[in-house]
Amino acid sequence: MSAIRKKLQKESTVVGSAGNLKYAVLGYGNQGRALALNLKDSKRGVVIGLPVRSKSIRKALNDNFSVVENVTDAVRKASVIVFAFPDHLHARTYQKDILPNLKKGQTLVFLHGTSIHFGLIQPPRDVDVVMLAPHAPGYAVREKFLSGESISCFWAIHQNYSRQARRRVFQFARSIGIATTKRTMIKTTFADEAVGDLFGEQVVLCGGLSELIHSGFQTLTKRGHSPDNAYLEVCYQIDLIVDLIKRFGIAGMYQRISVAARLGSSLSARRVIAKQTRKNMNAILKEIESGDFAQKLSSLTPAKLKRLDKNLQKLTSPEFEKSARKFAVKS
Ligand SMILES: NC(=O)c1ccc[n+]([C@@H]2O[C@H](COP(=O)([O-])OP(=O)(O)OC[C@H]3O[C@@H](n4cnc5c(N)ncnc54)[C@H](OP(=O)(O)O)[C@@H]3O)[C@@H](O)[C@H]2O)c1
Repeated sequence: MSAIRKKLQKESTVVGSAGNLKYAVLGYGNQGRALALNLKDSKRGVVIGLPVRSKSIRKALNDNFSVVENVTDAVRKASVIVFAFPDHLHARTYQKDILPNLKKGQTLVFLHGTSIHFGLIQPPRDVDVVMLAPHAPGYAVREKFLSGESISCFWAIHQNYSRQARRRVFQFARSIGIATTKRTMIKTTFADEAVGDLFGEQVVLCGGLSELIHSGFQTLTKRGHSPDNAYLEVCYQIDLIVDLIKRFGIAGMYQRISVAARLGSSLSARRVIAKQTRKNMNAILKEIESGDFAQKLSSLTPAKLKRLDKNLQKLTSPEFEKSARKFAVKS
C-alpha cells in the first residue's frame, strides 16, 4: 500500500477529522466518478447525487456505490457538496435542487470557478464556498490515486463562514489523493481560475491547438501529401514536443531539436501566430472577462448542445479522423 493511502486510512479514524465529513458528489462523469471512487477508497462517507432518470446511476451501482440519491436528498445528507456535473447546468440545478436544501455550515466545493465568479450561483452567507480544480482529467485523477502519485490542483476560498474552509479544502484534497505540498496545491482565486481556464482551453489547449493542427494538415493534403503522412508530420509527435517544453521550457525545447527545425521556427513562428491572431486572443479574453461567454454557457439547452456538437464536426475532416484512428495510441 502506498504511503499516501496508509496516511489516509489512519486519518479517517481520527474523531473530528475529515473522516466525519460526508461528501455528496453530484454527477458521476469524468471528474465525479474519479473523485467518488477516491473518496470511497480513502474511507470517506460518500453519497452520489444524480438526476432522477440519470444514465449514470447504473455506472455508480456497477462501481459498488450503494448510496445513489437524487440531488435533493444527497444535498440534505452531506456536509460537503461537490459540484461534479457540467457547468452549464449548475445555475438551474442550484436554484431548483440545491439552494432549498442547504443547511448552515455546509461546504460547497467547485471544480472550476465560472459559476461563482460570474455570479451564476450566489450562495447564502452561512456556507463555505471553496474550489479545488484538478490539473488533470478524471481518468488521470483516478489512475494517479491508484498508483500513489499526486497530481497538482488550483485551490481557492470564496467564502469562509466556518473559519475552517482552508482545512476542509485540504482534507478534501488529501482524500482524493492530492499531496498537500506547495508544489501540488497552488493557491488562486475563483476569478483567475475561471478566466484563465476558459481562455487556456479556448485559445491554446483545445480550440487553438486543434485548429492549428488541422490547418497544417489541410495545407499539406491540398498540396498532394497523403493524409497519413500529413497527420504524422503535423500531429503525431506533438506530445513529445509538449513534453520537452514542460521539462525544459520553450528555450530548452529549441535547444533539443534539429538545426533545420530551429531555423524554420525562427522564420515562421510569428508568421503563423501573427499580429491579428494576438488581437483575436485579446478580443476572446475580453469576451470571457465580461461574462459574455459564461452567459452563453449557462443558456445551453439540449437542442443547442446537439447543434454545438454538429458544428464541432466542421472543425475537422473525415480524412484527418481516419488517419488519427489509424495511428491512435492504444491506452
Ligand atoms: N472534465 C475534466 O477533465 C475537468 C477538469 C477540471 C475541472 N472540471 C470541472 O469539473 C466539473 C464537472 O465536469 P465533468 O467534465 O466531470 O462533467 P461531466 O463528465 O460532463 O458530468 C456528467 C455527469 O453529471 C451528471 N449530471 C448531469 N446533470 C446533472 C445534475 N443536474 N445534477 C447532478 N448530476 C448531473 C451526468 O449524469 P447523466 O449520465 O444522467 O447525464 C453525469 O453523471 C465542471 O465544473 C468542470 O468544469 C472538469
